Amino acid sequence: MISPKQVQEILDAVRIEDVVGEFVNLRRRGVNLIGLCPFHSEKTPSFNVNPTRNIFKCFGCGKVGDAVTFLREHESLTYPEALRWLAKKYNIEVREVERTPEQIAEQQLAESLYIVNDFALEHFQQQLFDTDEGRSVALAYFKQRGLREETIRTFGLGYAPDQRDLLLRRAKGAGHNLDLLKKNGLCSQDGTRDFFRARVMFSIHNLSGKIAAFAGRTMSSDKTTPKYVNSPETEIYVKSKTLYGLFQAKKAIRQHDECLLTEGYMDVISLHQAGIENVVASSGTALTEGQLQLIKRNTNNLKILYDGDPAGIKAALRGLDLALEQDMNVKICLLPDGHDPDSYVQQFGGDAFKQYVDENAKDFILFKTQLLVAETRGDPVKKAALIKDIVSSIAKIPDPIKRSVYLKECASLLDVDEKALHSETNKLITATLKKREEKAARQPGAASDSPGPADGDFGWPTEMPPGTPESESFVPLAKEKPLVRGDEFQERDIIRLLVQYGHQMLDKEGLTVAAYVLADIEESLGDFDNLLYGKIAAECHALLVAGQSFDQNYFLHHAEKEFSDLAIDLLASPWELSPNWEEKWNYPLQNQVMPDLNFDLDMRQALDRFKLRKIQKMCDLNLGRVKAASDAGDMEAMIRYMKIQQKLNETRNEIAKRAGTVLWAK
Ligand code: CTP
Ligand code: MN
Repeated sequence: MISPKQVQEILDAVRIEDVVGEFVNLRRRGVNLIGLCPFHSEKTPSFNVNPTRNIFKCFGCGKVGDAVTFLREHESLTYPEALRWLAKKYNIEVREVERTPEQIAEQQLAESLYIVNDFALEHFQQQLFDTDEGRSVALAYFKQRGLREETIRTFGLGYAPDQRDLLLRRAKGAGHNLDLLKKNGLCSQDGTRDFFRARVMFSIHNLSGKIAAFAGRTMSSDKTTPKYVNSPETEIYVKSKTLYGLFQAKKAIRQHDECLLTEGYMDVISLHQAGIENVVASSGTALTEGQLQLIKRNTNNLKILYDGDPAGIKAALRGLDLALEQDMNVKICLLPDGHDPDSYVQQFGGDAFKQYVDENAKDFILFKTQLLVAETRGDPVKKAALIKDIVSSIAKIPDPIKRSVYLKECASLLDVDEKALHSETNKLITATLKKREEKAARQPGAASDSPGPADGDFGWPTEMPPGTPESESFVPLAKEKPLVRGDEFQERDIIRLLVQYGHQMLDKEGLTVAAYVLADIEESLGDFDNLLYGKIAAECHALLVAGQSFDQNYFLHHAEKEFSDLAIDLLASPWELSPNWEEKWNYPLQNQVMPDLNFDLDMRQALDRFKLRKIQKMCDLNLGRVKAASDAGDMEAMIRYMKIQQKLNETRNEIAKRAGTVLWAK
């Protein structure tokens, strides 16, 4: 692990233009630099590098980020890898921090397991390429299946001959530990026989290309032998968090901003060989949440290639609501009868395959609706169940505009009233929100500790803020309950202040914007509607209390991706305010012109807007108490609450007057 201090040292040294300049030809234009975007193909440059903010942004494809993001995307590096790359470039010596004995032991075990697997791979490859039997049996098999030698090497394919303990003997001879071989599943538990025998071998890589496991395929067509046998799960191989081929595919997935998902090893390999490299396999099982996360890290667009029968497809579709919750775009493409991706691409070639997929991929929800609606003809009970099913999928989509579009399409496919679908969906959403609120109320700490998928959905900016003008093309969601959670806009504005110029000095004594802002809203810190914004505010507060300062880089390189994503968003936004933003969100923006020059005013206004919202809430709450006391005939309490009300109103009016804001109509 690199210490936080060193991370900071590295980040402080980084100049975005140096880093990007290593990969992209940049020209100066004013204070910025421009070049051709490396993330999408273009002829006129729209890729901007801003040295002042130390970030890049492409106005063509929308990619935005800092030097670390750039390296992660462009070079497919992990976060620590990107840091090491930068450290090397800027001649910073990286010292790793101390780890606990348990961590060291765990790391050592993992490393030993990898070493044994490396040995096994070498053995399988040597058997494949350097023995007569391997060449005539296994290499011939791979070639007969259309694989080229280069592909066979890229994917670490090999051969395990039909011998009782060849690998075992060689491994022992080379001094490898028998327990490790057992653990990796390379031999029987009594340590007498090889596990993989008479099979062609597939290596399963982890994300950084190390061999985590193997699969062996029989070459016989005898139905009584299992087609594939696989390594057991170990410390280095967790099936539900592994996607076959991801190591070889991740760069292409990011480049194409799409991931193709197949079922089998051969599908991945053949497609890759045919030039379609953004492809992974779930290895014959239903997609797990962990696997989805792996995809989501690289792209939001998932295209699933199915070759199964309708029953299998239906089962597989069930798991996909998970992807919707993550706001991923899921498409499904069925292959023609009797083909899987491997056989199709081997027979017709890469171009034909791409064309087929382009023409036949269907949106997941529409696909599911179409597939199932056929079965409900003339059966109202079945149809009602289907509507429920579809609506529950749609309700999981966080983006309200997307939801509206789906509801419209599905209403027509199902031949039901669109409004009815809307109201069903809203019921589900409201119920989900309520459940979440109840959960958060029960365990306030837990909600912020587990930023699972739940945090991402139904949150800003995907929900329409109250008062959003209705657009003609979409049927609005139910009006009685605004789905945006209260004060998120004002809260976001506070976070923007903290990120954008929290470190700026307000006076000569060194009072920073962050210190001022946080002191000013201290009472409301536990009271944020948006969990993420609340978490950030709390973290900033804790840092200040601990006497630590923070600046933009702190947020941009935060280990929690949610934080750094938001920071990038906030820092990049002054460049790209859409002209109708204000009108669209009914939300005045202060930072259109050089906010940095005007942060004092900006800060005071944002604080006022924030406080106004919070105080309005206290007013409402207190009014409820007045009413309850009055209903209960408790005059004493009523008077007390009315006095509080008066005080609240005064404060509210004062702030409103200063801010020149019309109070929100309630
Ligand atoms: N699988 C497995 N064990 C089996 C059968 C299948 O682990 N007994 C997994 C493998 O990951 C396999 C995937 O499920 O790649 C899909 O199975 P299948 O379609 O039967 O195999 P293919 O990948 O098409 O392999 P091949 O083309 O060599 O028949
Ligand atoms: Mn196949």
